[in-house]
Amino acid sequence: MTEQLLIRGGKPLEGRIKVPGAKNSALPLLAASLLTDDPVVLKNVPPLKDVGTMLSMIRELGKNIETTDQRTVRITGGIAKNSAPEELVRRMRASFLVLSPLLGRVREAVVPLPGGCNIGTRPVDLHLNGLSRLGTEIGQADGKIIARAKKLRGNEIFLDYPSVGTTEQLLMAAVGAEGETVIFNGAQEPEVRDLVNFLVELGADIEVDGSILTVRGADELHGGEYEVLPDRIAGGTYMIAIAATGGHATVDEVRPSTLKQLTLKMRKSGITVNEGVNSVEVIGDNRPKNLEVRTLPYPGFPTDLQAPISALLTIAEGKSVVKETVFDSRFGHVAELRKMGADISVPNSSTLFINGTDGLRGAKVEATDIRAGASLVIAGLASSGTTEVSGLEHIDRGYSQLVENFQDLNAELERSKIDE
Ligand code: UD1
Repeated sequence: MTEQLLIRGGKPLEGRIKVPGAKNSALPLLAASLLTDDPVVLKNVPPLKDVGTMLSMIRELGKNIETTDQRTVRITGGIAKNSAPEELVRRMRASFLVLSPLLGRVREAVVPLPGGCNIGTRPVDLHLNGLSRLGTEIGQADGKIIARAKKLRGNEIFLDYPSVGTTEQLLMAAVGAEGETVIFNGAQEPEVRDLVNFLVELGADIEVDGSILTVRGADELHGGEYEVLPDRIAGGTYMIAIAATGGHATVDEVRPSTLKQLTLKMRKSGITVNEGVNSVEVIGDNRPKNLEVRTLPYPGFPTDLQAPISALLTIAEGKSVVKETVFDSRFGHVAELRKMGADISVPNSSTLFINGTDGLRGAKVEATDIRAGASLVIAGLASSGTTEVSGLEHIDRGYSQLVENFQDLNAELERSKIDE
């Protein structure tokens, strides 16, 4: 028996909601815990399926994990294995991030090529080219990367694209390399900065100047304690849902500065967004107006909020244009939103034209990836009638307690079993 989400839409969201720690920060931080044998304590770790996958991965590689309270994880012990289990890497692309810590600590790592979200081709060429620049010999056999380096050596690396995962991978390699590494055109996402701060907490020497990251390698890192930054993508998803339902609610425990792109777009669309110190209040008392949105690496508009904001624009006044420039196939939500009455055309593989309609109606839809799933939940909450969302395993990868959170905001939704 699998589950689906039943949403009886049309109720404005009201109240307050707390955002958990960021998935995209917790995952690299957990991988980075392999860089030391000393105890590492991570706080504000979100209880998510993807986090569970990374915890299984580092446990498989030799770490002991204690969950001291619901959101705190204590990691101890050394590395017992240099080969990452295929099943875990295929399940989640971010597992590939264990490559550098393994390489740095045990000189040889075997990591299968990654799987993960079904959003276009997601190669790892930038990761591997960067690691070669640091003196790694890269081989490939049976779909697995075999990386060897007797000693990693610092170097200058220019990234053709400011890839988040590549920047994180190279930071974790550079901290154990001999000498200085300078990464040019590195990713500037807050989650990358969170990894830098965590590595510094463990004794690394890293300087960040915009997209240039300078790392002076150290022999060994030590243990430490660190709190994962709040999840701006979960926060942004809730902000959009509040606006889409014409609600009035506050999203707590976020960093408003990391949500600026969304805040300014929403204001442009006529929605009131008030920033507090650690909170954002959204008042959706006007029908939103059309927008032009173009996804870009940070500080541009996040690709992870492209599907959610597209759902909002289906009920906005006028014609919106959404351009996806980060991934080459991230429109899994479009066909499903159309089933709910959305008027969306796809003139080319990176563009959406959205003609706002007066309202959506409930339908049977399927989530094909995490953020497409979030956009269907938003559409369901905003629509009349009942929406049935299947494919919940995708949504569960990135959103913890989604049902409870929306119920606290007065929404009517529940999980129900379906026969396969
Ligand atoms: C991370 C996030 C994901 C987000 C994405 C972009 C995590 C766990 N996931 O994914 O939620 O959508 O950043 O903000 O943090 N690319 C290459 N070669 C490479 C690496 C990447 O061509 O070696 C391309 C990708 O195919 C994609 C683009 O670069 O088109 C961006 O990817 P990247 O920034 O690396 O995203 P991820 O780290 O996979």
